[in-house]
Amino acid sequence: MLSIVADIKGTLVSYLLTDGVNLRFRRKKNKWRKVIHGYKMQWIIRFSGFVSAVMVMIVLAPSLQSFHPAEAIRSNTYTHRSSSSSSSSSSTSSFRRAPTFRDAAGCKKSTNSGDVCDPSLVHVAITLDFEYLRGSIAAVHSILQHSSCPESVFFHFLVSDTSLETLVRSTFPKLKFKVYYFEPEIVRKLISSSVRQALEQPLNYARNYIAEILESCIQRVIYLDSDLVVVDDVTKLWSTNLGHKTIGAPEYCHANFTKYFTAGFWSNRRHSATFSDRNPCYFNTGVMVIDLVKWRQFGYTKRIEKWMEVQKTDRIYELGSLPPFLLVFAGHVAPIDHAWNQHGLGGDNVNGSCRDLHSGPVSLLHWSGSGKPWLRLDSKQPCPLDALWAPYDLYGQSTVR
Ligand SMILES: *[C@@H]1O[C@H](CO)[C@@H](O)[C@H](O)[C@H]1NC(C)=O
Ligand SMILES: *[C@@H]1O[C@H](CO)[C@@H](O)[C@H](O)[C@H]1NC(C)=O
Repeated sequence: MLSIVADIKGTLVSYLLTDGVNLRFRRKKNKWRKVIHGYKMQWIIRFSGFVSAVMVMIVLAPSLQSFHPAEAIRSNTYTHRSSSSSSSSSSTSSFRRAPTFRDAAGCKKSTNSGDVCDPSLVHVAITLDFEYLRGSIAAVHSILQHSSCPESVFFHFLVSDTSLETLVRSTFPKLKFKVYYFEPEIVRKLISSSVRQALEQPLNYARNYIAEILESCIQRVIYLDSDLVVVDDVTKLWSTNLGHKTIGAPEYCHANFTKYFTAGFWSNRRHSATFSDRNPCYFNTGVMVIDLVKWRQFGYTKRIEKWMEVQKTDRIYELGSLPPFLLVFAGHVAPIDHAWNQHGLGGDNVNGSCRDLHSGPVSLLHWSGSGKPWLRLDSKQPCPLDALWAPYDLYGQSTVR
């Protein structure tokens, strides 16, 4: 087993050192280059067998989970790093295939099936990386299961590694989706170093760029975090009336808004004046309905980036990707029912302790906070509500087929 893993890793690394260099060169030409279809097919045909064999290993061995083509290119020491951890005894567990979900009677049949620009589609964007993979897959599964027209949901996956496409395809054979590589370098230079280490992966910032990443024919998207499950028909969220607003999200106006920014921010009149003509409320950026037409029209990506630049010199907040959204949108958010973000189920950031649901109905359960249900379930110390996540988990071999 050990030597097999070492062999595969060796082969992969040497492949990446040759073709991979070419790949990176092409990516550089366009910052957040879309992984276009023809190119994808070429990749899949040439490497799908190989990649899926490797995928099993990657998912199994924790030390391989951070594996990234770019990393392999940069680091020749990669092959030596992890030989001690690949002794995992189970051999073939990975993600199992989800059932096929079909439209109920009365769903609009799309005219151009599979065309991303089809106006009848519901667009959902989710990030996909090795660390939160199990959460993202469960989120997709939950959306399909509770949707009355699952065939009209189109997924946009923002990935840190294009090989994840193969895994999505084998887990959801009929899924309508597209994969977009998010270049971490876009945000690395904008993230202040202390925040970067403590809290955030570059992929957390992909939501800032979603209007540019997705095709321009797409006018609206639901952005979802990877640590949640949807337990209601996503079409209801999709048909949110945004009025004149660019984004919609559940708002929490009783939360102390002051604490999201530093004393330095509030005492700087030029900075704090940004909130002077509005009544800002906290909202969670893990569930948002976004009008992409307005976003592009008003250049919100640039406005978010501008605040990230300010942060680098003035240190106006402590958290990572959230505060720039608050700076730009708080007070200008179309409110969505709180049922659509029952957040905080991960617990607090210190102890990962168990949390209860907020009162009221539940359409979406969100394990924001430091604890994640898959980790707690694996460690046999789950919180009571983690049992609500477990049915959507597709990781590992099924006992009942
Ligand atoms: C809100 O938080 C700030 C900073 O943490 C604190 O100074 C202030 O007293 C709080 N306000 C309320 C109403 O709790
Ligand atoms: C974390 O747990 C410790 C010990 O159980 C406790 O003393 C502390 O107050 C907890 N911290 C938070 C933020 O809940």
